[in-house]
Amino acid sequence: MNFSWKQGLVLASLVAAAGTATAQSYPTRTITWVVPFAAGGPTDALARDIADKVAKPLGQQIIIDNQAGAGGTIGSGKTAKANADGYTFLVGHMGYMSAAPALYKKLTYDPVKDFEPVFRFPDTPLVLLVPKSSPYKTAADLIAFAKKNPGKLNFGNAGVGSTSHLIAALFASKAGIQVTQVPYKGAAPAMNDLIAGQVDAMFDQTNTALPQVAGGRIAPLALTSSQRMPQFAGVATLGEKALPGFEAATWYGLYAPKGTPKEVIQKVHQAYLKALTDKAWGQKMADLGIQALPEAQYAPEAFARHTAAEVDKWRKVAAEANITVD
Ligand code: MLT
Repeated sequence: MNFSWKQGLVLASLVAAAGTATAQSYPTRTITWVVPFAAGGPTDALARDIADKVAKPLGQQIIIDNQAGAGGTIGSGKTAKANADGYTFLVGHMGYMSAAPALYKKLTYDPVKDFEPVFRFPDTPLVLLVPKSSPYKTAADLIAFAKKNPGKLNFGNAGVGSTSHLIAALFASKAGIQVTQVPYKGAAPAMNDLIAGQVDAMFDQTNTALPQVAGGRIAPLALTSSQRMPQFAGVATLGEKALPGFEAATWYGLYAPKGTPKEVIQKVHQAYLKALTDKAWGQKMADLGIQALPEAQYAPEAFARHTAAEVDKWRKVAAEANITVD
């Protein structure tokens, strides 16, 4: 069948109109957010909290699909290849969406080229945790032991390139100590072994560490935030004592597969901004140590710039701190 150029134009305009109509009616069915860690960890907890709030303005259910493994890179690789139709998203963070290219030789995705940033989440600082029965009462105690016993201390983490792995590696590098990293399929299983005393320490985000500390199941040694937190009464920051200048937080955000319509991305971003007007929710997040950002930093374009800059940063940091897959 031969099309005339006029018929071709009509066909192209019909296709474009259908796309716009789809974006205008979006969303018409349940949306999936992939969290590439086991349920119950800080990434999962934050994702569920935000999905619950964003679903309301969108008028559709958002379900969380936990696809754990390899520090979040397995779920990320699968989501990069998902349909770019606005119904599958990745909850990303600084590990598998910025440090991973420096750590994994055969990464199955490119955090910048294979995704469309949708919006950034608030940041979450971490806390250095030990079992309740631990002999270490301060970060300085733990560092002093590690200096005399290289490699002896086991740090639980959520897999190579996870936040808990990266921050522990940076901590060890700055402190001039060697620790043994023990990977799990997420911070939740690692936390279970910390509570059981199967590992000596781990870094975890404040939103999931706080209930465990409050319940007396683990003990906090130091915060990675720039300031102390009333929720962690009496707990120093690493930067003020044990490691002057040390500061770290996990950044997160929502990503769509490359090619997802711009109108869809704008709709989801606008739904997030509407969710942020819920002041009671904002206070609940702040009470968990989650740090709100200036609103402009949540936007897709700003988040895209941030992701690209972080990939460059972590390439240098991983080399300087000798952070490797092993
Ligand atoms: C990480 O350590 O990268 C994540 O916090 C793991 C998780 O959320 O389970």
